[in-house]
Amino acid sequence: MRQRLVAGNWKMYGSREQARALVTQICEGVGQIARVEMAICPPFVYLSEVAGFVKARGLSLGAQDVCERAEQEGAFTGEISALMLADVGCRYVIVGHSERRGFYAESDVCVADKMVAAQAAKLIPIVCVGERLEEREQGITEQVVMRQLNALFARTQGNTAWLDHVVIAYEPVWAIGTGKTATPEQAQHVHAFIRKLIAGYDRDRAAKVKVLYGGSVKASNAADLFSMPDIDGGLIGGASLRADEFLAIANAAQR
Ligand code: PGA
Repeated sequence: MRQRLVAGNWKMYGSREQARALVTQICEGVGQIARVEMAICPPFVYLSEVAGFVKARGLSLGAQDVCERAEQEGAFTGEISALMLADVGCRYVIVGHSERRGFYAESDVCVADKMVAAQAAKLIPIVCVGERLEEREQGITEQVVMRQLNALFARTQGNTAWLDHVVIAYEPVWAIGTGKTATPEQAQHVHAFIRKLIAGYDRDRAAKVKVLYGGSVKASNAADLFSMPDIDGGLIGGASLRADEFLAIANAAQR
């Protein structure tokens, strides 16, 4: 009953020309993929460029980050508001990616603020959670994910309606860009934990919320990951920069 979603996070890669070529190739191949929603998250400066292509083919557009402030405009040099992202055609925005949490010191509170700011502009935030390698080795994966998720519930003060307009992405940091994928069983274990934790707040919504897996998903491992009951698709980094790989991953999500 949860529709699968496969989202490509292009990160800080490519030129305008490459963005146009990649989205063109992806759009050419989407014909066979009917039952999975596909989203593309290019760098901010290429959003408008990519928007026209994806809209025509029924794909969704997403951004990789958003300003956390409640104001949707103002004197905040360098920031991009959720309203602006909606204005250029975004449906999604990634928030709390581990590269933002790590390199730009985004706290759990900041991530929760971004989620709320996104929803206020009717965007669907894809909120990333996940443990670092040392945290997994210390056996505290569940505590870390719990802390990250509880911050979202704290920010929304017991009103769980936000769960209707959110996607959670479990991305073990040690699996991102490293070629080391979590095994389907490792991923499923944490996905089930996430759903159970959410069910503690709202059982009905927990059954409906999409939980994506991210971290070195490739065409060769996607089908096994997507066969797990609590994995509803993927957030794809490196492999989303190749049209054939990205399309094969989306195709694997159909089964
Ligand atoms: P990766 O990145 O697929 O290159 O590991 C995933 C992500 O950062 O979302």
